[in-house]
Amino acid sequence: MGETNFRNARVASDLLDRMFVERWSSKAFTDDRLSEQQIDVLFEAAHWAPSSSNRQPWLFVYATDGPDRVRFNSVLNEGNTLWATRASMLVLVFARVVDEEGSSIRTAHFDTGAAWMSLALQANRMGLNTRAMGGIDLDAAYTAAGVPREEFQTICAIAVGVPGTLDDIDPDIAKGNIANDRNPINEIAFPGSYLE
Ligand SMILES: Cc1cc2nc3c(=O)[nH]c(=O)nc-3n(C[C@H](O)[C@H](O)[C@H](O)COP(=O)(O)O)c2cc1C
Repeated sequence: MGETNFRNARVASDLLDRMFVERWSSKAFTDDRLSEQQIDVLFEAAHWAPSSSNRQPWLFVYATDGPDRVRFNSVLNEGNTLWATRASMLVLVFARVVDEEGSSIRTAHFDTGAAWMSLALQANRMGLNTRAMGGIDLDAAYTAAGVPREEFQTICAIAVGVPGTLDDIDPDIAKGNIANDRNPINEIAFPGSYLE
């Protein structure tokens, strides 16, 4: 099986669709704004994700500018504030963990992860960059986004925008920007049994 060396030194087999290695999470964004149409298509991608019993437990609340954006920016931790406030859009991601009957949705986080990845891949296909952030005030996110904590769990934030160049950002911020390492496939996938 041949291998292709993609940009950022991501090495993948020739059989792998390029979308999986071409997506990566940069911290560099230009000042370009996203159009409403671009934003709609990103969430359209997310809403096609598979989910248990097709319950679609993901929730995305987003802000681009104005008071909403100021509120969303304030949810980020210090390290993420340094770069993510420049992105055209911030999305707060929640998973519905309790359904209408009050039962817990066991796969809510898994399903929401699938929706985020769909959004990220679509963004990359559109020449946009995404970077998820767990470094946020999980509690403040409920208030910032007007989401009831009884039904939802805060997952993360996502910065979305037009990718900039790393030269434009502070070297300290750029640090840890590119993560090309992955665990070997034979350490994550096992035929038949993990222990023996
Ligand atoms: C749920 C989640 C939380 C993350 N939290 C942060 C964060 O708080 N700050 C940050 O700079 N990057 C964060 N990242 C980005 C990861 O560090 C990045 O995805 C990982 O290093 C792999 O790099 P890649 O996305 O470029 O393939 C997060 C990613 C995910 C999926």
